[in-house]
Amino acid sequence: MSRKTVEELEQALGEPSEFIITHDNRNLVIQWAILKGHSPVQIHSMRNVELANLYHEKDLTDKVTVEQALAADIFVKMINAFQIASIDPEMIRSLIKQEIENQPPKKLEIITPSGNVILEGVIHYRTELILKIVSLNHPVMMVGPAGCGKTSIGEKVAQALQLPFFVTSTINDTHELTGFVDGYGKYHTTPFRQAFEHGGIWIADEIDAWDASALLAANSALANGFSTFPDVSQPIFKHQNFRMIATANTFGSGASRVYVGRNELDAASLDRFAVVDVEYDLTLEQQFSRGNDRWLNYVWKTRKSVEEKKIRHVVSSRAIINGAIALEAGVSWKDVEEIYLFKGMSETDRKKINNKD
Ligand SMILES: Nc1ncnc2c1ncn2[C@@H]1O[C@H](COP(=O)(O)OP(=O)(O)OP(=O)(O)O)[C@@H](O)[C@H]1O
Ligand SMILES: [Mg+2]
Repeated sequence: MSRKTVEELEQALGEPSEFIITHDNRNLVIQWAILKGHSPVQIHSMRNVELANLYHEKDLTDKVTVEQALAADIFVKMINAFQIASIDPEMIRSLIKQEIENQPPKKLEIITPSGNVILEGVIHYRTELILKIVSLNHPVMMVGPAGCGKTSIGEKVAQALQLPFFVTSTINDTHELTGFVDGYGKYHTTPFRQAFEHGGIWIADEIDAWDASALLAANSALANGFSTFPDVSQPIFKHQNFRMIATANTFGSGASRVYVGRNELDAASLDRFAVVDVEYDLTLEQQFSRGNDRWLNYVWKTRKSVEEKKIRHVVSSRAIINGAIALEAGVSWKDVEEIYLFKGMSETDRKKINNKD
């Protein structure tokens, strides 16, 4: 029996809008879905209605796995041409996936004011701009929704500039910034101290949720170029390779955004920073979705609806990454959406969301 290509299967299955699943064509939809890059484990466990829905959403699923599907198609054509009937399309698919995953990471050479640097691997679209501003030695503040990749951008920038990377999360007390001397006279250092004294990229995470006096202390250290610490009597001067990147989390994006933190940032703090809006990187998210277009589009629709209805809920890239992994491992759709997407959203808010086609 010769194996069918995606085009042949789609011809046999007909128009998606008119498609009705039957005992006879179930197998063809399964073959089609696998060639389109869906997980065989997941597909085989789907009920008829779910398979039919998958085919109804055909146009949505056409985007991400195009490369894989094309490659799989070529293989299937070759197999037909050489009549190698014993090769299983599932095996071909997993070989192609492996091949794509084994590709060496992409390299991008960026010209910065302090010389050319190389960015490697999976890169958020904002990384290049932030790298350039950091190289100018200007403090940057990334403003954007939770889980859109801010910390990862900081990490990539540190890697590219070959600087150590330090993160300080939400601060409730100035001691968490400057460190403290305990009852035995031992000094406990902090990421800020290490970066400030010895150089490095320092991420001040979620500064809109920081204690106001800690923010003031960080600001004055930046402005004056020195800071006092409890273990030394003399101020310590800022290392020439100290770079600060702050982040502020928001619900929503653009003009409709609302800071997550309890403090609106005051003008003096904002004035010190180059403020860069960071949004979810949809191309990165496509890569995170492991070819599961159905999940990707479902999360995107949910996010759009959450933003439109101004619901204070985070639909981050993590929902896409972790949900896709769980689905691939065979966790049911219902559990995955509950665990990674809606996570404790109230019934009232749930009802407002329109994520159906
Ligand atoms: N360039 C990237 N390469 C690989 N993974 C990434 C990249 N960017 C983001 N991620 C992944 O996306 C998720 C969210 O990224 P990250 O933690 O950087 O976002 P964030 O904006 O700092 O989130 P939060 O607001 O919760 O602190 C993480 O699981 C991270 O591993
Ligand atoms: Mg972060």
